[in-house]
Amino acid sequence: MIMVSLRCINCQTEFPTSSRIYTCSHCNGLLDVVYETSGISGERLMDVWDGRRGSPKTIDQSGVWRFRELLPEADESEIVTMIEGNTQIWDAPRSAEYAGIDRLTFKHLGMNPTGSFKDLGMTTGITQARRMGANSVACASTGNTSASMAAYAARAGIRAFVFIPSGQISLGKLSQALDYGATILQIDGDFDDAMRLVREVANESPLYLLNSVNPFRLEGQKTIAFEMLQQRNWQLPDRIVVPGGNLGNSSAIAKGLHELLERGVIEKMPKITIVQAEGANPLYQLWKKYRGREGDTDLKIEPVAGAFTLATAIKIGSPVSWPKAIRGLRWSDGEVEEVSEQEIADAKAMIGRDGMGCEPASAVTLAGIRKMAAAGSIRPDEDLVAILTGHVLKDPDYTVNYHSGTLSYTDKSRERVAIESRYGNEFIRLPAEREAIIEALVFR
Ligand code: F0G
Repeated sequence: MIMVSLRCINCQTEFPTSSRIYTCSHCNGLLDVVYETSGISGERLMDVWDGRRGSPKTIDQSGVWRFRELLPEADESEIVTMIEGNTQIWDAPRSAEYAGIDRLTFKHLGMNPTGSFKDLGMTTGITQARRMGANSVACASTGNTSASMAAYAARAGIRAFVFIPSGQISLGKLSQALDYGATILQIDGDFDDAMRLVREVANESPLYLLNSVNPFRLEGQKTIAFEMLQQRNWQLPDRIVVPGGNLGNSSAIAKGLHELLERGVIEKMPKITIVQAEGANPLYQLWKKYRGREGDTDLKIEPVAGAFTLATAIKIGSPVSWPKAIRGLRWSDGEVEEVSEQEIADAKAMIGRDGMGCEPASAVTLAGIRKMAAAGSIRPDEDLVAILTGHVLKDPDYTVNYHSGTLSYTDKSRERVAIESRYGNEFIRLPAEREAIIEALVFR
């Protein structure tokens, strides 16, 4: 028998899971879904979960619902799944060499049905929307959440409304949300404006909010940790490196690991390491200021006004889930790093050369690992898993511009800054003549 409820991470007040609330109605703190799984040992959980890997049942094949003993209860007929998860862990020798470490593996969540990790949270989020009888859902998004929500809502026959910062999301992601039939509201503002507005609107309308402030979303995303460990035969890595934007994903992974720790599946938490872009680094700033004073109750994030990065997925100045991210860092003795636009772009090219590719936001992982290895805070022999969050095809403009030497941005003082194409792979332009082609190939 599993008892599930919602609990405020701040004042610990509990609410039934049927409450349509996103934050604590007493203190406005973030909510967790919590479980009383008396009687199920860690050993038993691993057995049950491993046993489902070869099963032909859809809910066993899903890399989320396979772990349903630690998910909100849902009848099989209510579950909205696209058999998400089951994403590869790949060895990345060129990236490891680039970072100056012995070995590096990437778990590529861009290989999910809509090309990002958001699908893991959306299967539980949309299932909960259906259980609550919602007929419309909404989110603010830098692109991937909207693509994923639009797809899962379409599968469930629920209307989707997405709030996006006008002109600031990649075309690949926008095209997905259009194709899956969502209603798209282009807001004249940035992601932080869109986020504030969708929360206000959801509080005053029947729209069910599916940003990661919704704790049911994070329940799906925490299975990233479960699946990763299962794929590694339950062998713990030393460190998990993850990009930080709205800070839902790092929080979800930390919660998943903590639940495994409490149930004796693992004996300690791997170090959660969150990497942000320099221009959108509120968590990094907070961490730097308060490191060593982590028990300080005044700990509060300073939003970055006008946050900027070419990695538009993480162009976020006021991350909603920061208290949960801090909790995850404390649980795991974790760390936070920041990286520059040039470092992100070069790292992305390197991940491409390993034959896997990713979208820009995902590449902060490798850039951060390289920087931390150079500073001596990552040992060369650490067992590392870095999380790639989005598919290389999400933002082809960025990739083509980098390789052709035209990637640039405008900095705070309105100066144009060119990104050097250090690992560029330029086109060869040739006339349509056999001779010219042969000559070009010979001289390469
Ligand atoms: N990587 C990618 C590709 C993302 O799309 C996001 C967030 C992140 C990393 C950061 O994850 O927010 O949980 O810290 N994208 C959101 C969106 C904000 O709207 O698609 P986070």
